[in-house]
Amino acid sequence: MSEKIAIASDHAGLELKLYLISILEEMGFEPVNLGTDTEDSVDYPDFGILLSGEVSSGTIERGILVCGTGIGMSIVANKFKGVRAALVSDVFTARMAKEHNNANVLVIGGRIVGKTLAEEMVRSWVGAEFLAGRHQRRLDKITKIEEGCK
Ligand code: RB5
Repeated sequence: MSEKIAIASDHAGLELKLYLISILEEMGFEPVNLGTDTEDSVDYPDFGILLSGEVSSGTIERGILVCGTGIGMSIVANKFKGVRAALVSDVFTARMAKEHNNANVLVIGGRIVGKTLAEEMVRSWVGAEFLAGRHQRRLDKITKIEEGCK
């Protein structure tokens, strides 16, 4: 069975999201599109919340969010327990987001990044492995913040 990857956008990220859905399918993943599906203006938190809820609950292991700049979606996603969302605009950072930060949500600005770069970033993030070790210790400190301790 192919791995599900959740994907959502607002109107500003719609075009890039549709492109990335086709790329994920080509890569053998099962993209789960949580909207929006039209270019009508919507509020990005509504779609960021949907996707982050899925990742936070563990229903879907990872996801991709696209809005105009990527900023709004990353602010939303990082409010959710267990969600580590990384806003990326270069391939190296996309790979590091997985290797060092174990980012389970990749965020892209549809008005910032072109399709080819976005595709490369997704391929890089999806294909990378979390390096654990000292990086896990750092993530454990972040988890403690979520649990209300320092
Ligand atoms: C929508 O105009 C825009 O504000 C949104 O897509 C995003 O860039 C917010 O951070």
